[in-house]
Amino acid sequence: MSLFITFEGGEGTGKTTVINNLYNYLISLGYDVIKTREPGGSKISESIRGIILDRNNTIMDYKTEALMYAASRRQHLIEVIIPALKKNKIVICDRYIDSSLAYQGYARGLGIEQVKTINEYAISGYWPDLTIYIDLDPNIGINRIKNNNRDVDRLDEETISFHEKVREGYIKLIDLYPNRIKKIDGNVSLDILTQIAKEIVVNKLKEG
Ligand code: TYD
Repeated sequence: MSLFITFEGGEGTGKTTVINNLYNYLISLGYDVIKTREPGGSKISESIRGIILDRNNTIMDYKTEALMYAASRRQHLIEVIIPALKKNKIVICDRYIDSSLAYQGYARGLGIEQVKTINEYAISGYWPDLTIYIDLDPNIGINRIKNNNRDVDRLDEETISFHEKVREGYIKLIDLYPNRIKKIDGNVSLDILTQIAKEIVVNKLKEG
């Protein structure tokens, strides 16, 4: 049975580490799993993302940004996600449609409904079965990134108030999709975060 899991959250929430740990755990249980993130090795998606995140592209219009994320998402879906789901794999994806709804729809102010419309066109019904949202005060998250010396991209350079809006956007999405989105408090150790994520996924697998 295939399962499509996405992880969501602001900057520096520990998403990537939790995904890696969860991936290893599911593999150790004998599941057929892939972990991916947009652009996920798709050359076309990668080119599109390069344009979006380029720090020199300061004049990019917000609607252009939203359309480009949707385009990149579509290509990655077609090349990577759908083929894996068709092979009955578990797919764990780092960010997907909810990132666009929270960042472009809510934080950029384009409107969750509007951004949802273009993304529904892009994803052709491939909504995640389960979304794990790691909730964290952006002040803590951004500090973690600075301490880890990760490369700063165009969106990281946004103000704290932008990242606070992103968080508010995600909270609205939980209200809109209470069955699909499970929220975890990110202000705990990575071990605890991993443990909670594992429990959520194992319960979902039991549901069948
Ligand atoms: P990503 O490379 O996934 O970074 P992170 O390590 O923070 O997960 O995403 C880069 C930035 O793009 C990040 O600030 C979130 C933003 N983003 C959007 O604004 N909309 C989207 O649809 C996606 C997928 C990402």
